Amino acid sequence: MNPRARLIGDGIENPANAKALAEAARMFAVPCGFRDSRGLAGHLPGLPTVDTAALLGAGGPLVAVDNTPGAEPVYRTERLHSGASIVVGNERRGIRPDVLRAATRTVQIPMPGRGVNTLNVATAAAVALYYLLDAHGRRHVRAPRPESHRPAVLFGAPRDHVEAGSSLRSAAAFGWQSVTVDDREKVWFGTPRPVRNEARAAARSHRNPLRVLPAGDGWASMPGCRTVVCGPDLDGPPLHRAELTGPGTLLVIPDGDWRPPPDAERARVAVPGVAGRYRLLTGIVLAEAARQLGARSAKASRPARRGLSYGSGLELAAPPDTDLVQPWELLRY
Ligand SMILES: C[S@@+](CC[C@H](N)C(=O)[O-])C[C@H]1O[C@@H](n2cnc3c(N)ncnc32)[C@H](O)[C@@H]1O
Repeated sequence: MNPRARLIGDGIENPANAKALAEAARMFAVPCGFRDSRGLAGHLPGLPTVDTAALLGAGGPLVAVDNTPGAEPVYRTERLHSGASIVVGNERRGIRPDVLRAATRTVQIPMPGRGVNTLNVATAAAVALYYLLDAHGRRHVRAPRPESHRPAVLFGAPRDHVEAGSSLRSAAAFGWQSVTVDDREKVWFGTPRPVRNEARAAARSHRNPLRVLPAGDGWASMPGCRTVVCGPDLDGPPLHRAELTGPGTLLVIPDGDWRPPPDAERARVAVPGVAGRYRLLTGIVLAEAARQLGARSAKASRPARRGLSYGSGLELAAPPDTDLVQPWELLRY
C-alpha cells in the first residue's frame, strides 16, 4: 500500500458509489475509508470507517477535493507529502464544512462543460489521485483557442450501462458536446433508460444536450484521422506525455479486450495498482485531454453574436440516429 495517502469518502450515501470509490483507491494502491454519516455501513457490512476525530486529527495534510469557490485546479497543485488524507464528498451535498474548514488544500477538477458541472464522486477521486500522486513530467497546455484542437472521442464497446452513462457524464462535464459510442455490447442504444421519455420531451427545450452517436462501420479508417487509443495495458508513452489533442485527432477509450486498429497510436494509463472500472479510466483520459487543451481565453468565451453561426448549422445537420442526452439525466450516473 502507498504510504503517501489514503482516500476518504465523506458522507457517501450510494453503496454502488462506495464500491467504485474503493476501486479508485485500489487503482492507486492507497487505502480507502469512509466517514459514514449516511448509514452506508448498514448496506455494506465490513465497511472501513473513520470517525471525525481520526479524520481531522490525522496529522498529515488534509486535501479536500470539491468544486468549491476558490479551490485551486488539481492540475496545478503541488505533489503530496506522505500521510495525506484525500477527501471526496456526498453525492448531493459535497464535503462537510468541518473538513473544508480544516483542509490544508482544496482542489477542484476544472469543468469547462455547459450544463454538467460535476463528475461522479468515484470518477472525481480517480482523477484527483492521478494528479495528486502521479502524472510527473506533464505535456504543456495548449491554450489559446483550445476548442479548435478538441479531439473527437469514441467509447469502445463499454460493457455496462452505468459505466457508459457515467463516462458520458464526464465527457459533458469536460466540455465535449458529442461522443461516439461503439455499442457492440448493446448497453446504450436501444436499451430502456428510466427517464428516456422525459429526456426526449425535454430535448426540444434544453440548450445543452450531449449528442451521443452510434459508431458506424469504418470509423477507424477516416482519411487524415489520427487515432490515439488510451488504456491501461497498452505499449506507449504515459497518457500525460502523449499528444491527445489536435485537429483530426480521435481518442479511443476501449473497455475490456477491445482490439485497437493496428495503425493507431497508443497511450498508457499507468496506475500503480489494478486497472479500474470503465468510468474511472474514461474520467482520467478525458481529464488529461481537457488539461492539455487548456482553458478558453476570455476573448474566446465571449457570448456569441446573435444570428446564424457555424454551430447552429451543425445542429441542423445532426444525424437522425443521434441520441440527445440531457445534462440532468447524466447527473444520475
Ligand atoms: C457529485 S459531487 C456533488 C457535490 C457538489 N459540491 C455539487 O456542486 O453539487 C460529489 C463529490 O464528487 C467530487 N467532485 C465531483 N466533481 C468534482 C469536481 N469538478 N472537482 C472536485 N471534486 C469533484 C467532490 O468530492 C464532491 O463532493
